[in-house]
Amino acid sequence: MEVVILPPEDLAMEAANVVEIQLRRNPSSVLGLATGSSPLAIYQELVRRHREEGLSFAQARGFLLDEYVGLAPEHPQRYRNVIAEEFSDHLDWPAERIQAPDGLAQDVPGACAQYERDIKAAGGVDIQLLGIGTDGHIGFNEPGSSLASRTRIKSLAAQTRKDNARFFDGDLEQVPRHCLTQGLGTISQARHLLLVATGEQKATAVRHLVEGPVSARWPATVMQWHRHATVLIDEAAASELELTEYYKQTYASKPAWQGL
Ligand code: GLP
Repeated sequence: MEVVILPPEDLAMEAANVVEIQLRRNPSSVLGLATGSSPLAIYQELVRRHREEGLSFAQARGFLLDEYVGLAPEHPQRYRNVIAEEFSDHLDWPAERIQAPDGLAQDVPGACAQYERDIKAAGGVDIQLLGIGTDGHIGFNEPGSSLASRTRIKSLAAQTRKDNARFFDGDLEQVPRHCLTQGLGTISQARHLLLVATGEQKATAVRHLVEGPVSARWPATVMQWHRHATVLIDEAAASELELTEYYKQTYASKPAWQGL
């Protein structure tokens, strides 16, 4: 796992570079998309590169990490709509090339199994963008999630509903109680995991992710098993880490050819 500690605007640049290199090498790459506030600066930078530098998403495929259960098709917080609004509508990325778990499916297990098959049929995810919840979730894999889990329905933790109430006019009652999420096993099959976290409120989750034991109690720790995982954090999110100086020195003295 590589830990990169930089100011937030530089983190977005680093992540955008990874995505750009991948897309220029293979225009039909498969991108794993995260919602939440953490990836927004990355999306804005990629939109800028599309507009000003011709970076194309036309041949790419996209798979969202997760989705709320029960939000109406036009609900602005439905993650499929959030990604369109914040990112893909500003690109040359055809909507039909981006998929999300179906939060309105009648047959929930069937829809989740189909989502897994669709990811596999697309060739698997090349780069999976991730944020992290204050309780250590990735996607919506709340504490206790099996480290081998696949796409399925989950109950949202009280902390997550509280954290996300800001997207629902601050009204906890409007926040759904269930979600569909790629499992930790599903996420682990992406070829490169790229997690971004900023701010002091993420420091404890980041400490467990980077330096804690692997445990379903802190689901993001499954990333310690991954062969290519990058953790992009600012000073505030890094504030509880023990080996900060080591991570900084390592990044500063990387061979130029290596990339992230
Ligand atoms: C949300 C999403 C996650 C996201 C996380 C952190 O609930 N399901 O994919 O990474 O919580 O969100 P934020 O980036 O807004 O802090």
